Amino acid sequence: MRIGVLTAGGDCPGLNAVIRSVVHRAVAAHGDQVIGFEDGYKGLLDGYYRPLDLTGVSGILSRGGTILGSARLEKGRLEDAVANAPALAKKLGIDVLIPIGGEGTLTAARMLSDAGMPVVGVPKTIDNDINATDRTFGFDTAVGVATEAMDRLKTTAESHQRVMVVEVMGRHAGWIALESGMAGGAHGICLPERPFDPADLVKMVEERFARGKKFAVICVAEGAHPIEGSMDYGTGEIDQFGHERFKGIGTALAHELEHRLGKEAKPVILGHVQRGGTPTAYDRVLATRFGWHAVEAAHRGEFGKFTALRGTDIEMVPLADAVSELKTVPEYRMAEAESVF
Ligand code: F6P
Repeated sequence: MRIGVLTAGGDCPGLNAVIRSVVHRAVAAHGDQVIGFEDGYKGLLDGYYRPLDLTGVSGILSRGGTILGSARLEKGRLEDAVANAPALAKKLGIDVLIPIGGEGTLTAARMLSDAGMPVVGVPKTIDNDINATDRTFGFDTAVGVATEAMDRLKTTAESHQRVMVVEVMGRHAGWIALESGMAGGAHGICLPERPFDPADLVKMVEERFARGKKFAVICVAEGAHPIEGSMDYGTGEIDQFGHERFKGIGTALAHELEHRLGKEAKPVILGHVQRGGTPTAYDRVLATRFGWHAVEAAHRGEFGKFTALRGTDIEMVPLADAVSELKTVPEYRMAEAESVF
């Protein structure tokens, strides 16, 4: 079998672990050939690829990013690929495509699959917002980075009696804010799923200082919004990939709190630091398992599906389920962290 692999969308720690796992299982156990497309779907469309063998994936398990490169694809280009999907697979000589990516990548995978290309998807994203899988790799690493940042910010915040507003990633789903906020002991957490009232945060900080505490840390997801009319914060424009360009809620909220509290409030934007560097052990293991199962599914001819973590098992689930809706933070998970909302 000849397998094509690509990584698309925003990168995340663990992508290389999947690539390595696919190559090991495919080459060593099945005697397959594996090729890796450069820069996501662009490589597939433009025919840029390279053979991947055991030597080529040696030493990449713990390396962040992706050795294949990644890119987001403009909508029009994907439509061309979908229109020619079976012919494209034939031209490239691949028996199956394993795209590794988030919601956008798996939506494209589903379109290619529906159009007749044999596809087995692997879900990734630090946001953990892919439906029908309990976890995506990259998330554990991102939560670890954000938690460590909050641990560090607390000591400096306390020394200077400051409020720290830590902005983490999460456009539509607040999983990183929820879990890093809980693990980092944030005193307030703001998620995209539930608009927040800055007045509640002001009250929380004032009460803390009245109790003799000298600092506060607030963890805010980049996609969080204040309740309409509660503070000045407009919505962003839409970029060429259909994503909202955020106006910077961390900075806006810090300014608002500083103004209302009369205390120093500093924004800390963690940004792409959350996506860089070495994956945690958890993410390496999950990514390796996904790669193994993707190859096995390809050999069983289970196309149009993706590898999903269900409990502790990996199951093959229709790609349609991955992209039917985003997995956002449910109310009951917010309730568990309620004391800090
Ligand atoms: O989807 C993953 C993600 O890291 C989001 O959390 C974030 O909003 C986005 O990608 C950033 O994308 P880019 O790398 O294009 O700035």
